Amino acid sequence: MRKYHIITHGCQMNDHDSERIAAILENLGYEKTESPDRADFILFNTCLVRENAELKVFGQVGALKGWREADPKRILAVSGCMMQTGPAGDIIRDKYPQVDLVFGTKNIEKLPILLKELEEEGRVFDTSTYSVDGSDLDLAFDRKSSFSAYVNIMTGCDNFCSYCIVPYARGREASRPPREVLEEVNFLAKAGYKEVTLLGQNVNSYGKDFQVDFPSLLAKVAETPGIDRVRFMSSHPKDLSDDLIHVIAKYPNIERHFHLPLQSGSDKVLREMNRHYTREDYLALVDKLRKAVPDITITTDIIVGFPGESEEDHQASLDLCRKVEYDNAFTFIYSVRPGTRAGEREDQVPDTIKSRRYQELCDVLYPIFNRKNQAMVGKRVEVLFDGQSKNDPRKISGRDSGYHLIHVPGDQNLVGQIRQVEVTEANSFALMGRVLN
Ligand code: 5AD
Ligand code: SF4
Repeated sequence: MRKYHIITHGCQMNDHDSERIAAILENLGYEKTESPDRADFILFNTCLVRENAELKVFGQVGALKGWREADPKRILAVSGCMMQTGPAGDIIRDKYPQVDLVFGTKNIEKLPILLKELEEEGRVFDTSTYSVDGSDLDLAFDRKSSFSAYVNIMTGCDNFCSYCIVPYARGREASRPPREVLEEVNFLAKAGYKEVTLLGQNVNSYGKDFQVDFPSLLAKVAETPGIDRVRFMSSHPKDLSDDLIHVIAKYPNIERHFHLPLQSGSDKVLREMNRHYTREDYLALVDKLRKAVPDITITTDIIVGFPGESEEDHQASLDLCRKVEYDNAFTFIYSVRPGTRAGEREDQVPDTIKSRRYQELCDVLYPIFNRKNQAMVGKRVEVLFDGQSKNDPRKISGRDSGYHLIHVPGDQNLVGQIRQVEVTEANSFALMGRVLN
């Protein structure tokens, strides 16, 4: 039987696309292998949100030249956002002859046809927008986990934040009909899944074409019998509604965690980023969230070194981080993305300044994460365990409802279970604990 191996970069959307690609390959008779050496088909599912994600792919594809040339029947494929837009697809075609097949985010459903074409034509490059009437129903995914599942509720993004390439790679925003989403969640609950994560670039703008907005959809998902935990991402602060906050407060099985991407704490930079909120608006939202759901954790995304960012702007970001006291954050150095508005600007911040600001941001954030995590010591939390700890094979890791990463001594039997845990220790990035029941 032919074996496939998929390497996924980037966000949860890409992870979920890879689950779809895996299901298609398995339908065609392929079998999964964790070992690239044993594979007949290797696929890179790529990301282009920052430049280093792109550079990594070229390096990895380059390294597989020998593997590909060792057997003419092998297939090396590249898919994902990086292939859907920009020059990378052409570079792969011209400079990496070992790559047989390229396809984008919009024609995953076409994979069986592309593989047929490949048999006939030798090399296939297709990043067209093509939509087969592919079933979106759950059986069509080969999910990595048997207890926690991603569910797409929408695709694309219409926000055009000026630094971001995603709207070009993932296209216009489109919501999936609520009936379809709920059918999938029901199916997952019956199949024994305990946790679902609703995915969209900006879930708050869900349902513009339907009578059901995101808070109502979230409430219906939370009411599904058997679903113990509901997560969602991402939320744009500009359209986070009171209704959504009420729904979170009402349903205890909705995670006590809100990911609220800030990007910058400077009103000038926020305006130039096309974010449509001010630091005051943002702080008011945080306040509202904490009042309505006192135990909620708040995490964020922050970029340093956006074009034209002055020292004062940077200080405004640091100040806002101190004010909000985030539980965790993804921190990014601004990366020029060709074709975006910010990418065209002349006033790019020099790399040395960007690195210094990045360090200063971490220096502000990490002690806050540590302080907040220390405050968890002695508390009881409910943890869904998802696998062995990456750093210590004798430990099992999981997440509580506040999305804290938590490690406990234990064995694989815990994986997939929800258990009460007492937090015993903490550092800036994780909690340690012991299972109570
Ligand atoms: N440079 C740096 N970070 C970026 N992000 C998106 N585009 C860029 C870029 N050009 C970050 C944003 C977003 C997260 C997924 O990636 O913070 O929320
Ligand atoms: Fe990019 Fe902004 Fe859309 Fe998020 S909301 S995907 S940052 S354009």
